[in-house]
Amino acid sequence: MVVRSRVVGCGGYLPARVMSNAELAQRIDTTDEWIVQRTGIRQRHVAAEGELTSDLAYHASRQALERAGVSASEIDLIVLATTTPDETFPATATRVQARLGMTGGAAFDVQAVCTGFIYGLAIADNFIKVGQAKTALVIGAETFTRILDWNDRGTCVLFGDGAGTVVLRAESGQGTVKDRGVLSTHLHSDGREHDLLYVDGGPSSTGTAGHVKMVGKEVFRHAVSKLSSVIDESLEKNALTADAVDWLIPHQANKRIIDSMANRLKLPPEKVVSTVERHANTSAASVPLAMCAAIEDGRIRPGQLLLLEAIGGGLTWGAGLVRY
Ligand code: ACO
Repeated sequence: MVVRSRVVGCGGYLPARVMSNAELAQRIDTTDEWIVQRTGIRQRHVAAEGELTSDLAYHASRQALERAGVSASEIDLIVLATTTPDETFPATATRVQARLGMTGGAAFDVQAVCTGFIYGLAIADNFIKVGQAKTALVIGAETFTRILDWNDRGTCVLFGDGAGTVVLRAESGQGTVKDRGVLSTHLHSDGREHDLLYVDGGPSSTGTAGHVKMVGKEVFRHAVSKLSSVIDESLEKNALTADAVDWLIPHQANKRIIDSMANRLKLPPEKVVSTVERHANTSAASVPLAMCAAIEDGRIRPGQLLLLEAIGGGLTWGAGLVRY
């Protein structure tokens, strides 16, 4: 008997405030043209004062539960990926748990920066496969703009805030059941590359949250090679070739990185979900937000094969194949 984690619902939330490239150009030495050419980003959403990561995560999760037709009391696991938790402790996941009205199950945070959602998906899928959870929320949520140095034009133009949630449910059986759900996940990290992308603060080092530091060109180089290799790994593991992929749902960091992955897979732009133009890089929220956008507008249909991938600070990187 095969147990699979089926995606039964999806929700997304973006803060109301939109910041355009033109607005940024009034504050720092940059231009809309530079940002669009190098990254594909035209705007980003920014959380309001007092709007927390848990607020974004809650709204995305409520929508996902409603769409799935699942009540909060059925959830027995929340895995929330974030780099910008409400507090150093407790886990932001527990705040979402309380707000959803849940009194049972387990809730915890995962930190893998922009790869966080893929890590969360892998963890929840494994909990489900071994029978330790039946219905899980996997959330990617960030108020990433709070850890930006707004004077560093090399980083502050790249990021935005948002949250995305996927509801996974255990389904066991044979025939079609065994073919739908998370097929496999593939996680990697290499701590030697810390200095390429990190935050210069934290509770145990400076006692402050710190700001993002990045060696952009190097991160770009690693992104292209590491994402290529983890994509190959995921396809090989499932004895699939790139032409079986219906949708590439990449981490939304940079249009040039996304295009390079699509070219490698020989996927036309119509098969690539891209939200980077409107959302910018929302770190752990980027993949679930993109996935939800394409489910919501009907592009992704039941039975289609989705290839998810991401890379982030650590470095961490990973991929997941999901039959929707
Ligand atoms: N506006 C105008 N000029 C700028 C800006 C800006 N916002 N930022 C940098 N520049 C200037 C630089 O100062 C530099 O000027 P100089 O030549 O006079 O010194 C010039 O543009 C080129 O700078 P580079 O950093 O070499 O530009 P590059 O072509 O590498 O593009 C970018 C920078 C967009 C950051 C690119 O390296 C990139 O996308 N890297 C990947 C980053 C990424 O995806 N990070 C996220 C992945 S991991 C995660 O999601 C956490």
